[in-house]
Amino acid sequence: MTEDVLVVHGGTPLEGRIRVRGAKNLVSKAMVAALLGDSPSRLFDVPKIRDVEVVRGLLGLHGVKVTDGEEDGELVFDPANVESASTDQINVHAGSSRIPILFCGPLLHRLGHAFIPDLGGCHIGPRPIDFHLQALREFGATVDKRPEGLHLSAPNGLRGTKFSLPYPSVGATEQVLLTAVMAEGVTELRNAAVEPEILDLICVLQKMGAIIKVHTDRVIEIQGVPKLHGYTHRPIPDRIEAASWAAAALATRGHVEVLGAQQADMMTFLNIFRSVGGEYEVTDLRPPRNGQPGQEGGIRFWHPGGELKSVALETDVHPGFMTDWQQPLVVALTQARGLSIVHETVYEQRLGYTEALNSMGANIQVYRDCLGGTPCRFGRRNFKHSAVIAGPSKLHAADLVIPDLRAGFSHLIAALAAEGTSRVYGVDLINRGYEDFEAKLADLGAHAERP
Ligand code: EPU
Repeated sequence: MTEDVLVVHGGTPLEGRIRVRGAKNLVSKAMVAALLGDSPSRLFDVPKIRDVEVVRGLLGLHGVKVTDGEEDGELVFDPANVESASTDQINVHAGSSRIPILFCGPLLHRLGHAFIPDLGGCHIGPRPIDFHLQALREFGATVDKRPEGLHLSAPNGLRGTKFSLPYPSVGATEQVLLTAVMAEGVTELRNAAVEPEILDLICVLQKMGAIIKVHTDRVIEIQGVPKLHGYTHRPIPDRIEAASWAAAALATRGHVEVLGAQQADMMTFLNIFRSVGGEYEVTDLRPPRNGQPGQEGGIRFWHPGGELKSVALETDVHPGFMTDWQQPLVVALTQARGLSIVHETVYEQRLGYTEALNSMGANIQVYRDCLGGTPCRFGRRNFKHSAVIAGPSKLHAADLVIPDLRAGFSHLIAALAAEGTSRVYGVDLINRGYEDFEAKLADLGAHAERP
């Protein structure tokens, strides 16, 4: 077995072209949705990442036959024989991902009961599931929390409800969607999250026969239907991965074309990228013409030379600046002249990774106050959730241990941007959300190897 460490020789600009596939945070949910159909579903462009493997395993345990389709990245789900799985079997997946919580509604509809193992996912704050459980109870489910996990049942079926989220949570909105589509009657969800991945999940459910209206002001209305069928879907591309490679291009003074990246889903990121001094060009899809081959669309990102500029930004729910974009970008901000401010308003503990950047020569201070923006939920709760980045700083190599997925990618970028040879431990965690990242690094000319 290879040691879980990557040796990175920094200082070389990343140059070249890579491709992103379906968004991790849509693909895994679309896979769960396949459980609701009474006929097979087909999903394209599925990346080979750990989260997909976890959901595939859980679907398999519940009798959904998952097979590889003809196209590379195509998965076919046959839910003809959905069945219960034992808690022991399900618990094999305990602690591996947060997606299992989304199995509640579909399993309650198909089986009348569900068992959900302990959740995993990144340690970026307490990440409670209170909104999920409250919503499920509103639909008529009973929830029994036991040491081994959650047992849910709905002996009398699930009924539509009016529910308002205390915060526009992505997962809780998906929970409501996946439950309401087959609940009896109408569900009205207020203060819903409206991330592009959620709208794409709504497209999947609509293809299956659901009736879902997205109103203005974060209101979603779902008319329950008794039956759904399978879907065929090509997901939106991964805008978090696209932004991660864009940030890597900027931090290493390189030039990276991300095929598949879509401007519409990345507008807020592109505005900040340009404000920092990065340049980009949207390359639209060109179909084959007059015997000339076609060209896939994407976005080219590059560092134009000279100095980067400092910015103030605040992470937020869509259409704000995504919380998952901040860690990779902060590495580039260490190279900007002046003081940059990052106010993290989605997760209370998502700045811990900055210590590792400081050990490489960055100058980042974290504060409990809400800096540079409007006060957020964390301001009075003693969480260090604002960062001030003073730059430019020369980064030098270090030994790093990856704490979570996005912070992990930022460590990797820092090692690539730094002078000298770094050892990055725990890199396998990056496989949770970045397909073939080592091959992509090689394609971009990075000098990195397993020891
Ligand atoms: N929250 C609660 N109670 C709940 C649910 C959420 O208090 O019951 C809070 C969370 O603690 C957090 C905030 O609401 O402070 C937002 O959490 P949300 O539910 O929106 O996040 P999530 O669904 O758990 C997804 C992505 C995350 C991404 C966030 C925000 C997936 C699998 N994960 O998480 O992605 O950061 O939305 O956009 O879709 C990642 O890909 O690395 C990742 C962490």
